[in-house]
Amino acid sequence: MILAKSKDEVSKDVAVSVISQITEKPDSLLGLPTGRTPLNMYEHIKELTRKRNVDWSQAQFFGLDEYLDTDRLQSFKYYLETNVYGPLKISEKNCSNPLTIVNYDNAIESMGGLDLTVLGIGTNGHIAFNEPPTSELSWTHCVWLTESTKDANMEFFESPEIVPDKAVTMGIQTLLSSRRLILMAFGSHKKEILERALKGPVDPLIPASYLQKHQNLEIYTDFEFSI
Ligand code: PGA
Repeated sequence: MILAKSKDEVSKDVAVSVISQITEKPDSLLGLPTGRTPLNMYEHIKELTRKRNVDWSQAQFFGLDEYLDTDRLQSFKYYLETNVYGPLKISEKNCSNPLTIVNYDNAIESMGGLDLTVLGIGTNGHIAFNEPPTSELSWTHCVWLTESTKDANMEFFESPEIVPDKAVTMGIQTLLSSRRLILMAFGSHKKEILERALKGPVDPLIPASYLQKHQNLEIYTDFEFSI
């Protein structure tokens, strides 16, 4: 019998894989997620960085998405600064945010393209903030957030009225252009959407289903899942 690993064990596996990327190619371009799913992975990255003295100084970091019209403390830039960039002592010049770079896709391309992008999945099938329906041909763009995404993220805001309705996100093509993709899904509430996304037809109503088109997708879950 194969026992599913715990969220903590899986998060550590992802952390090890991200660190291997940097050890093998120190100037890698990394696409980084926010939200609840990667928090444990970031803790393991910090711990492994201390233990192994990992040098992140040549790596370039790209946030996957960002809210529009929100204050600094709620921004994904702040999330990444506090959970990743600060603790890993990464210089500000190596950290990019889709809100402050006019052509995010050109910037990524001109630096050689994303080497590894880590993703979570929303219960409505979104990846980054590519909400259903999303065109396969999308690059970085602005989006209206769905009610289900706003509900899911309500807990991070003091009141429902200040949950942003808009965001900017890497598009499907931006994500599919990444040489490696890691998709993480934790909790039984993510199992059904992951099954539909990766085993059902490719469907603009399930943006994560486009990941079936990527040749180098690695899936990490804390429940039993195989393709
Ligand atoms: P979560 O969000 O990690 O907070 O569950 C995942 C996502 O929306 O991509």
